[in-house]
Amino acid sequence: MIVEQNVPLQTCNSFGIVAKAHTLVRICTQDDALAVQKELQAQGLGHCVLGGGSNIVLTGDVKARVLKVEIKGRQLLQDTAKAWIVEAGAGENWHDFVTWTLAQGWPGLENLALIPGSVGASPVQNIGAYGLELQDRFESLDAIDLSTGKLFTLNAAQCAFAYRDSIFKHRSSGENGLGLAGRALILRVRFNLPKPWRPVLGYLELERKIAETGIAQPHAQQIYDWVCAIRRTKLPDPAVLGNAGSFFKNPTVTPEQCADIIARDPNVVHYPMPDGNIKLAAGWLIDVCGWRGKTVGNAAVYEKQALVLVNRGGATGGEVVTLAKAIQTSVYERFGILLEPEPVVI
Ligand code: EPU
Repeated sequence: MIVEQNVPLQTCNSFGIVAKAHTLVRICTQDDALAVQKELQAQGLGHCVLGGGSNIVLTGDVKARVLKVEIKGRQLLQDTAKAWIVEAGAGENWHDFVTWTLAQGWPGLENLALIPGSVGASPVQNIGAYGLELQDRFESLDAIDLSTGKLFTLNAAQCAFAYRDSIFKHRSSGENGLGLAGRALILRVRFNLPKPWRPVLGYLELERKIAETGIAQPHAQQIYDWVCAIRRTKLPDPAVLGNAGSFFKNPTVTPEQCADIIARDPNVVHYPMPDGNIKLAAGWLIDVCGWRGKTVGNAAVYEKQALVLVNRGGATGGEVVTLAKAIQTSVYERFGILLEPEPVVI
């Protein structure tokens, strides 16, 4: 365990916002996590868990102990007739892990290539892209309960995955005591990569690639290359232009609400869901409200994708939050829909 004081966090958050951690603790092993838990309990200290920092907005220096999870390691645990079961430490970089699994000959995560962040953060958000969500490839994870010091393992059902959501985003509440936000520190995640491998190609932009290239049966590496290429054209590279990916979730509405919006805006981008509800493209809602390229201070709406807010250099968390609130108000006034932010504001 490495403890540092007054640590600049600019390189620890993908928005590139300037802020400091009063105390930053680097957790490199399970024993580090157990030791930190004891210290937090004994001294009654507040904490905040930091993975790859790709889903946070820092609005000032962080007084609570910042627990930076840097647990490494990746291995094949099982190779059965049905699946490859692969495990990675929470501190592994997500994209590097995806790249490595493919290089080993274990396909299945290719649609999730180039998503910024760490392996440990992937189940929290139930990351998803190009027709695949983490929950489709999830086996189980190990974590420590920071309030009790107990180690525990959760399977997919216990993680309560939903669209960009899981048990790790909810505080404990009510009778069932569900909710592990602020309590769980994820140590390791295991993935189930099913055999035989089947491509996931339902997403419009992947269908376009098939039409363009004439490759009707792409292999996993080909899909990985396509996904990386699509992302690079549409989404800003956080190393060049700070951002946290999509800033809002795509909202879901009832068929009646959707019909009402279509009556006013026939071009609204919408997708029917298996449960009968309809998902709307938040990027489109923001775009038609005229937000593309608009700024508040140094925070801006990305020109090529209105769902992404970017740091044009020197943006503060306050500017990002002010811009996000103005977007919410404008979309609400026009469509009656309150957009829900994806990143956590600290
Ligand atoms: N659109 C516009 N204007 C815009 C942006 C989008 O009209 O400025 C329209 C597009 O025409 C398109 C539709 O909105 O028809 C959807 O856009 P896109 O395909 O880019 O996907 P998205 O819904 O904006 C989601 C995820 C992304 C993920 C992509 C691909 C959410 C909140 N975002 O974006 O995830 O990469 O689909 O699967 O679900 C992330 O979560 O950080 C993220 C980048």
